[in-house]
Amino acid sequence: LSDKSSNVVWHQSTVSRTRREEKNQHKSVVLWFTGLSGSGKSTLAHAVEDQLYQLGLHTFVLDGDNVRHGLNKDLGFNDQDRKENIRRISEAAKLMLEAGVITLTAFISPFKEEREMARSLMPHGDFIEIHCFCPLEVCETRDVKGLYKRARDGEIKDFTGISSPYEAPVKPELKIDTNALSLEESAAQVIALLRERNILP
Ligand code: PPS
Repeated sequence: LSDKSSNVVWHQSTVSRTRREEKNQHKSVVLWFTGLSGSGKSTLAHAVEDQLYQLGLHTFVLDGDNVRHGLNKDLGFNDQDRKENIRRISEAAKLMLEAGVITLTAFISPFKEEREMARSLMPHGDFIEIHCFCPLEVCETRDVKGLYKRARDGEIKDFTGISSPYEAPVKPELKIDTNALSLEESAAQVIALLRERNILP
């Protein structure tokens, strides 16, 4: 992507991330959920957010379906558009991290390289990759939105797992078997990790 902003100077805010975190009384972090369509990313991210919100923390979910209606409505699902989708989302997540918010992102984010790029944007330790693992056959059988069937029928091209690749994370901070665990159990794993990392008291 060409850089057209070479003459723009970064403005340093006097209200720093640290000051915001002090005011919020918790650290900010990016929880990056990745997985196939129908693997439960979005449901899990919202369930975790709900628990964090009830604990009084400052949270926000960036969600595939929602972001693609607004910020990224000009993007489709070929490789190039998916990369740009993730690039914009990771920049948005970085801003939210600076804003002192616990940011949960729920995108397929199928390419390892883009997830690594997102990780590299954040200070070390502030990016937590959570693989929502669910076998393709199970996602396809659930087919909540009827998209897998349409992809198999050739009505939707470049569909993840069918006609477009999903590169599973090799060493995510957390791998959750959303097929074997209940939503409560899955959410509990994420909360436990946040406790381990001292993001939650
Ligand atoms: S990506 O790969 O990260 O850019 O995708 P994302 O922004 O998360 O969008 C995924 C949701 O878009 C719907 N959808 C598709 N998914 C995969 N492949 C194709 N071709 C496609 N077309 C539409 C689908 O509902 C995804 O939602 P989830 O919540 O993942 O099921």
